[in-house]
Order: sequence, then C-alpha cells, then structure tokens
Amino acid sequence: MVKNILNEENFEKLQAAINENRNKKGALMPVLHEAQKIFGCIPLEVQKRISEELSVPLSEIYGVVTFYSQFTLESRGEFVIGVCLGTACYVKGAQPIIDKISELTGTKVGKTSADGKFTLEATRCIGACGLAPVLTVNEDVYGRLVVADIPEIVKKY
Ligand code: FES
Repeated sequence: MVKNILNEENFEKLQAAINENRNKKGALMPVLHEAQKIFGCIPLEVQKRISEELSVPLSEIYGVVTFYSQFTLESRGEFVIGVCLGTACYVKGAQPIIDKISELTGTKVGKTSADGKFTLEATRCIGACGLAPVLTVNEDVYGRLVVADIPEIVKKY
C-alpha cells in the first residue's frame, strides 16, 4: 500500500519551509517546491495549509499546482508510464495500448497502482510521431507498438 504521506512529521517539515520563506517576496513557488519534495505531491490538504499560512487564495495555489508539470496532485509511482494520445498515436491505436497497460498494472490514466509501482498517464505529442504509437517509462521510449508488445515492456519493470 502507498504509505500515508500526510503525516504529522511531513506537515512539520512543511511548516519549517513556510516559516523560512514567509517574509520573502514570491514565497509561494519555493514553498510549493519544498512541499512537492516532502510529500511527493501537493494534494488539497497540503494546498489548504499553504493557503492559510501564506494568505494566498486556495484557487491561486490550485492553479499553479495544476499548471506546472513539476507539481502533482497525487503521488506518482516508481515508474511513470506515459502513453502518447496525440493525433498520430491515437490514430495508430494508443487507446488499446492504454487499456492493456491498465489491465496489467491495475491502474488507470492519472492514477497510481495500489503498490505504488506504476503511474499511468496520457501525454500530448512528444514529437516522435514517426514512431507512433509511442509510450515512455520514466526516461525510456518505446515506439511502433502493438498491444502484444505491452506485457513484455511491463514485465521489465
Ligand atoms: S502524436 Fe504521439 S508522438 Fe506525436
């Protein structure tokens, strides 16, 4: 199971980061970076605390967290599988590939498997359309995929 990241110890660390940055101009970004490091993500409970402490509206914090890809709302797994759903990849069958990965890893798009191992994401065009359909696992890229390739790729991780 994914361990509970919203524990007191992590909130104490967050508080320290807030205190350190509180009086600086543009305190929000460094505090969010610290929060991402401490919790591995920035869920709503953490956003609320930052909002109260820095007197920044929650809607603004939510906007920043969802805008920048280095921030995530949920913790990610050890391996992040990104399946491109750009037009070229979609046309060449990215959806059945996603379905197969879901089936094998027990996770859904935007979610992390219960054992914390895999996060499945749908991405925009990654500029490798010639290799469509493509997927990435952390830094590794796989192209010209068919559904039958998926079990072997998943097994590697
Ligand atoms: S559409 Fe998938 S890489 Fe371009």
